[in-house]
Amino acid sequence: MKKNIQIAIDGPAGAGKSTIAKIVAEKLGYTYIDTGAMYRALTLKALKEHIDLENAESVTSLLAKTTIELKPSERGQLVFLDGQDVSKEIRSNEVTGNVSRVSCHATMREIMVELQRAMAERGGVVMDGRDIATAVLPNAELKVYMSATVAERARRRFEDNKQRGIDSSIEKLQEEIALRDKIDSEREASPLVQAPDAIFLDTTDLTITQAADAILKLASERMA
Ligand code: DC
Repeated sequence: MKKNIQIAIDGPAGAGKSTIAKIVAEKLGYTYIDTGAMYRALTLKALKEHIDLENAESVTSLLAKTTIELKPSERGQLVFLDGQDVSKEIRSNEVTGNVSRVSCHATMREIMVELQRAMAERGGVVMDGRDIATAVLPNAELKVYMSATVAERARRRFEDNKQRGIDSSIEKLQEEIALRDKIDSEREASPLVQAPDAIFLDTTDLTITQAADAILKLASERMA
């Protein structure tokens, strides 16, 4: 019985990755690693420091002098940027609207991928993102590519925002999600793409519990 496997979950924004990855990690007693939060934290710093987001060199050297930590807490996973809790700030519309411009730089991603690999080194992790199965953890024992229709993903983000006290419009969210999908999947560096050995999971008509159970079942098969 192999216990501490690596579980890679990729897919577009709003597919349910983080909600489901968190549940899977909790049930297995694993560490959950939200890689999107790391790109968001870097984007927040770049915006605050008025860095040119299109400039790969500036964005890369900014990351080189930045500390990003993910820490579990009773309120869920907290994100620390240079020692400061930025868990709420990284979900703002401004960060969401700019994160694809920051995350497209290959040289910056090399550093980010190294940080993420180090976090997953000992196994017992559920990591979610866009390039986990294809670039970060190519040897992960379980790879899942999760998706849902754009309409359903916008509806979920709307509910999510409401809970976080952030105002939004469904139509605008649909547009933003479609645009972010396009940028994330058409970029040159580690585009969002399903790994050939990943299992496709369409969550459009699944409840959170059903989707988490599907992954837990696959995980127990991989551990056997
Ligand atoms: O999952 P999220 O919406 O919090 O991710 C924010 C952005 O970060 C997303 O638009 C693309 C980028 N991202 C990435 O390029 N690679 C990852 N592994 C995770 C996120």
